[in-house]
Amino acid sequence: MANWLVTGGAGFIGTNFIHHILSIRQDVTVVNFDLLTYAGNPDGLSMYAGNPRYRFIKGDICDRKQVDAALRDNCIDTIVHFAAESHVDRSILGPMRFVMTNVNGTATLLDAARDYWGREGKDIPGEKRFHHISTDEVFGSLKPDEPAWTEASPYMPNSPYAASKAGSDHLVRAYGHTYGLPVTISNCSNNYGPYQFPEKLIPLVILNAVNGKPLPVYGDGQQIRDWLYVEDHCEAIRLILEKGKPGETYNIGGMNQPANLTIVKTICSLLDELVPDPSFCPHEKLITYVQDRPGHDRRYAMDSTKIKRELGWSPKYTLETGLRKTVEWYLANQDFVQKLTDRSDFKNWMDENYTERGGSSK
Ligand SMILES: NC(=O)c1ccc[n+]([C@@H]2O[C@H](COP(=O)([O-])OP(=O)(O)OC[C@H]3O[C@@H](n4cnc5c(N)ncnc54)[C@H](O)[C@@H]3O)[C@@H](O)[C@H]2O)c1
Repeated sequence: MANWLVTGGAGFIGTNFIHHILSIRQDVTVVNFDLLTYAGNPDGLSMYAGNPRYRFIKGDICDRKQVDAALRDNCIDTIVHFAAESHVDRSILGPMRFVMTNVNGTATLLDAARDYWGREGKDIPGEKRFHHISTDEVFGSLKPDEPAWTEASPYMPNSPYAASKAGSDHLVRAYGHTYGLPVTISNCSNNYGPYQFPEKLIPLVILNAVNGKPLPVYGDGQQIRDWLYVEDHCEAIRLILEKGKPGETYNIGGMNQPANLTIVKTICSLLDELVPDPSFCPHEKLITYVQDRPGHDRRYAMDSTKIKRELGWSPKYTLETGLRKTVEWYLANQDFVQKLTDRSDFKNWMDENYTERGGSSK
């Protein structure tokens, strides 16, 4: 059995990744190490209670003792590092938390892995790997005619979130270069799909629309993002873990770049079809333009040629098929979502920030 530590496994992508791995890799045991911040929700994995291949540890990646114990107690050979503060809007309001978790937390994990695999690694069978999940936002913002980012594009992060992720990427690379830690990094575009926290653009629009609430769109809604269905992302990470070379970085994108307004309108027409409630249809009439976010990046686009060429990955979902699956999931799982939106930390944040400023980061 291989023993994988998945940090941030109670978050959006981590939850999807654990489902993916436990269903596809029968030879892997997963330890989900998560602090359960406002964004962490273990309910999405409750079906694995009692499963000998799954264990949950409530722990903080910034706490060296907790990380050391998690590695040693579970003979960890692979670390898949998702844990982070991930919401751009929150990073603008409170950047220090992002520096602590994303930079210090990643450094703590790297150092613990270096020590553990260096001192006791010889006793742990199999290959070791530290895989770090990062974002396209480290590259900044593209002008309309500029080509999509490759792995060689320069880092130019604009938000505190993006800068903290850039800092963590540099640390991962440096630990690989300096200490020979077997690291890989992936920089991916905006994910969407099941289990996403409802402060992010797509779930927020779905949930507001079904409840007849305004659908706030930042500025002119013409910000362009590259959208990746989360299942495609999970498959890409698994392929990197299985076949990617230590020291390498891989860009992962959904190979589509719609404007945010197009995303919102597509969700509205899906809801017109799936929930034809005459009091809210057409859902598009709920769209409300609100003041743009400070320093809002205009365009992101990822060039995924390398992972396609070297690892044989390409996305299986188009924007249309992925959005349909996502809308259907949120409609079928309203109890799950309701539990999240009823939480006081979510409500307070939305009341204090979202209703006044509108919009959403991803
Ligand atoms: N969501 C996206 O579109 C996207 C795009 C590119 C990259 N990423 C990256 O992917 C990763 C996962 O993103 P997500 O959207 O699933 O995030 P998320 O906010 O949904 O989940 C983050 C998880 O990390 C946990 N966490 C936070 N601080 C922690 C700490 N100190 N110790 C342990 N656990 C902690 C939270 O409890 C939560 O479960 C992040 O590193 C993010 O930067 C996300």
